[in-house]
Amino acid sequence: MYLYDEVGSALFEVITALPEYGVTRAEERVLKAHAADIVNALPANVKVAELGSGSGRKTRRILEALCKKQPTAYYPIEISRTALQLCHRELGDIERVSIVGYERDYLAGLAEVSAKRNKGEHLLVLFLGSTIGNFARLAATKFLRSIRGMLEPGDALLLGTDLIKPLPALIAAYDDPIGVTAAFNLNLLARINRELGGDFPLDAFEHVARFNPDARSIEMHLRAKRPLSVRVRDADLHVDFEQGETIWSESSHKYAAEEVAPIAADAGFECTHQWRDEEWQFAESLLVAR
Ligand code: AVJ
Repeated sequence: MYLYDEVGSALFEVITALPEYGVTRAEERVLKAHAADIVNALPANVKVAELGSGSGRKTRRILEALCKKQPTAYYPIEISRTALQLCHRELGDIERVSIVGYERDYLAGLAEVSAKRNKGEHLLVLFLGSTIGNFARLAATKFLRSIRGMLEPGDALLLGTDLIKPLPALIAAYDDPIGVTAAFNLNLLARINRELGGDFPLDAFEHVARFNPDARSIEMHLRAKRPLSVRVRDADLHVDFEQGETIWSESSHKYAAEEVAPIAADAGFECTHQWRDEEWQFAESLLVAR
């Protein structure tokens, strides 16, 4: 979550436009091609909650398809106020949609949305973009279980997962040649400097993306190019780095398409549908609470 201040959110938007980062375009293709099928697989009378809506651009297809069948309430849940504002602007013009944003973390926001619903109303929870990949595998199952705990039988979760693919494509997606992802990563240190009185010399760290075959994840690191020592005043922190030591800043887990259903089952969902993008290898799975 600390990657996504105003600068980081803007850099991530650029990442989604990079030729090397196929995740977002793949999901947009899937949602464009299958919005009607997705909506037809849902129970009648649904409200939509989205965990981490970002700009909301991908959500348009689903809301438009749903609004053809019923007036639809949409609750984006976001820790970024900027993203919530973008969402209103991006989606506010859809006919028969009403948008109420929640500036909360995912589970707190979902608890509120779920508590406010009326009898006979179902929830569709959107968790798109492979954000689930930021959790370690066990933590991902636990998180799905927490979501399930706030749902009623018949409620649905639409889950986007980036799939395992050949290594060169995977690495390039997280280490693009013009350095946008490097800037996205380094912004963490810049942010510590800005907000916590840190003195990280940014030129002494380099962006590294590597695949961890045991975890099946891409790890982002910031590697010290020389021995150095750093202070973070407001955190009362002093750290010495050896040359080559890294700060591990993010993990992005990759899934096999067949992995989703058993994980979902473990968390109390049935995976009733899965739609895939073959060009990039991405899966959108519809999980129904049992
Ligand atoms: C927004 C979490 C899905 O892991 O692919 C992109 C974040 N990090 N490039 C991902 C990210 C580096 C992204 N998610």
